[in-house]
Amino acid sequence: KQQWTDASAVDEVPEDDVIGIVVGGRDIALYNAGGEFYATDNICTHGHARLCEGFLEGHEIECPLHQGRFDIRTGAPLCAPVTEAIRSYPIRIEGGRVFLALD
Ligand code: FES
Repeated sequence: KQQWTDASAVDEVPEDDVIGIVVGGRDIALYNAGGEFYATDNICTHGHARLCEGFLEGHEIECPLHQGRFDIRTGAPLCAPVTEAIRSYPIRIEGGRVFLALD
């Protein structure tokens, strides 16, 4: 059975932006892409950069360090130098809160 963890208020994530949060001891990037919410690991798979400090364009997050890109819907790497996916997490919105399934 899916365990949902309360991660944030919906209001805390500005539209077309990303914030960094710690949930269940994990560093998570929480995105609002045109009103749709997504969550991935916050640390780039290429180096130790935090994706929440990067640039969100549509469904793509650009790493602030070497400009690698990931699809925030799946975590898939989109261009060099990133080759390894970041983990993405299922999301549920309820009562103005964002819940994540971490396992
Ligand atoms: Fe993210 Fe290099 S650390 S692209």
